[in-house]
Amino acid sequence: MHPHVIERLKSAFPLVHLASGDPALLTDEMKDKVRGIASMGRVDAAFIDALPNLEVIANFGVGYGAVDARHAGTRGVMVTNTPDVPTEEVADTAVGLLINAVRELPRAEAWLRDGRWVSEGGYRLTPGTLRGRRVGIFGMGRIGLAIARRLEAFGLPIAYHNRRPVEGVAYAYHPTLKELALAVDTLVSVVPATPQTEKIVDAGIFEALGANGVFVNVGRGATVDEAALVDALSKGTILAAGLDVFADEPNVPQALIDLPNASLLPHVASATIHTRQAMADLAADNIFSWFSDERRALTPVPETAHVTAKA
Ligand code: NAP
Ligand code: 8YV
Repeated sequence: MHPHVIERLKSAFPLVHLASGDPALLTDEMKDKVRGIASMGRVDAAFIDALPNLEVIANFGVGYGAVDARHAGTRGVMVTNTPDVPTEEVADTAVGLLINAVRELPRAEAWLRDGRWVSEGGYRLTPGTLRGRRVGIFGMGRIGLAIARRLEAFGLPIAYHNRRPVEGVAYAYHPTLKELALAVDTLVSVVPATPQTEKIVDAGIFEALGANGVFVNVGRGATVDEAALVDALSKGTILAAGLDVFADEPNVPQALIDLPNASLLPHVASATIHTRQAMADLAADNIFSWFSDERRALTPVPETAHVTAKA
């Protein structure tokens, strides 16, 4: 957990720390007394059920796929996340990843650092360019919109796919991910991990993007068929990929690491002191607000929006 969350919470509440959401780690005293959780990892139904007095789970992060929010909702437990505060930072990183993947900037820098500019001459002209690209955003939510605004300023046409068109957004809407992938050559994915999005970016999507295709993922790794992505990158089905998130973090498949046309980051899209502090404040503020006289969450997730505090 971010230290700022701990500092703020311990000023008002007795805290216990658990290394994981394993019910076997709970003592009888914890089972009796724990009323709130600040979490960065898995909080499943069994863990929620093991805490009969639990009222609120404050997830550190926008994505809360690790928390069984639906189950929490049926148990009258509030779940909160940290939307909006990381939006611009994550969008900046997505654009950086896109440029790194297309223009091979990390490899060009390695060329300089390895002394090859001196010994062999200039870095190669890159086959990839942003010029003439058509961008598809998969997940035109808060972060998707911030990415789209940036790429629009680069002069690139934008299209998107969500389950529903976004009101007031003029970018071209495609009712399926496949149709979006067929219409663009650059797919930026920023959807949450849900049962519906699991491995939804698969071989068919890479084929639809085509040989000039670039895939960027700042959403969640579980939404991608990583074996199919490795295959597409190694066979030239697509040109390149830029990834901040992986299916089994921090374990990144060696096959991906070995690919020169994959630009890889260790889940750092929101990882600045500024933004993580803001996320920490929002996670802590949700708990403070829940246990204040107001007894309300600041940023409830949709699955628990109906939950009210017991008197
Ligand atoms: P958001 O505003 O809720 O946007 C999510 C978008 O995904 C919505 O537009 C939603 O539209 C779409 N979507 C959800 N399920 C879908 C489905 N089955 N098919 C098609 N579209 C679907 O959330 P956000 O703040 O932009 O954050 C998005 C995600 O980014 C988070 O959930 C998290 O996983 C990830 N994230 C990553 C980092 C990082 O460090 N890399 C940081 C922050 C967030 P519809 O509901 O209309 O389908
Ligand atoms: C954090 C994120 O890195 O907000 C999210 O969904 O993925 C990131 O901002 C992560 O939540 C920290 O564990």
